[in-house]
Amino acid sequence: MQVVTIGGFKGGTGKTTLACLLGVAATKDGLRTACVDLDRNTRNLSSFLTLRRASRLECPDHVMLMDTEEDSRANARPRHAGRLEPLVRLAAMDGYDLMIIDTSSGNLSDVYEAHLLADLILTPMNESPADLHGLFTKAGQPAAPRINYREMLDTVRFDRSRAGLAVQRWHVVLNRVSALASRISNTVNQRVAAIAEEAGFESTWSLRDRVVHRALGLDGRTVFDMPADGRLTMSELAGRSEVRALLSLLNAASERVVSEQQFAA
Ligand SMILES: Nc1ncnc2c1ncn2[C@@H]1O[C@H](COP(=O)(O)OP(=O)(O)OP(=O)(O)O)[C@@H](O)[C@H]1O
Ligand SMILES: [Mg+2]
Repeated sequence: MQVVTIGGFKGGTGKTTLACLLGVAATKDGLRTACVDLDRNTRNLSSFLTLRRASRLECPDHVMLMDTEEDSRANARPRHAGRLEPLVRLAAMDGYDLMIIDTSSGNLSDVYEAHLLADLILTPMNESPADLHGLFTKAGQPAAPRINYREMLDTVRFDRSRAGLAVQRWHVVLNRVSALASRISNTVNQRVAAIAEEAGFESTWSLRDRVVHRALGLDGRTVFDMPADGRLTMSELAGRSEVRALLSLLNAASERVVSEQQFAA
């Protein structure tokens, strides 16, 4: 089984949209897929998948990791650590091909764990300097984000190498890309290429801004579902191929899959 974690400490970049699109695409391709929603605050992925089920659309299996009763008491410190690994192990034993974990933008222990357990990490960002800053400014630089995604990724990599685990692939996905070229998008693209080298990620295919992706919050429909009138638009077809290109990263990642035995060690 491969684990894909979708993360980034900048809110609203498209993590949940991407998790849902990949989950639906993989399910339609016949992969036994589990989607895990770690965002206890918005529960957006759970909501999208519930809408899909209500609309009788094909769905990946879905788990929402809730706080325990004890955790939800006022002022109680959340206890999230250590709950994902058994879930990953069970899903692998149960014959799932793929687990997609949607994370929240907070620096919680289960978000760290989701990154640690991933074979492939996808970080969506909008073509905006604000997203670049929120995601990739190094700790210690002026006005660096207080919760620093790059720093967490460095820790994840260090912890994995100490445990003798394979290096993960980390891809940054430009999302909501405009069809119109602009000075800002050129600048952002150049900066992403420069940061990619030193931060150790690859910059990957992008997703365009498409109205149809917002239908997820309406009735759970994606570009992979036929519209009621049976006619797919060019935008929907193009949207499909963008998501499929991302899904194809799974094949490349499969050589580096970490076995359950390694985690047990
Ligand atoms: N490619 C896209 N085209 C059009 N709209 C998009 C696209 N990707 C995301 N959106 C919209 O952008 C908004 C944010 O997306 P989403 O909720 O997936 O982000 P997120 O990173 O999961 O946010 P959060 O940090 O709150 O969990 C939503 O309104 C969503 O419908
Ligand atoms: Mg989200």
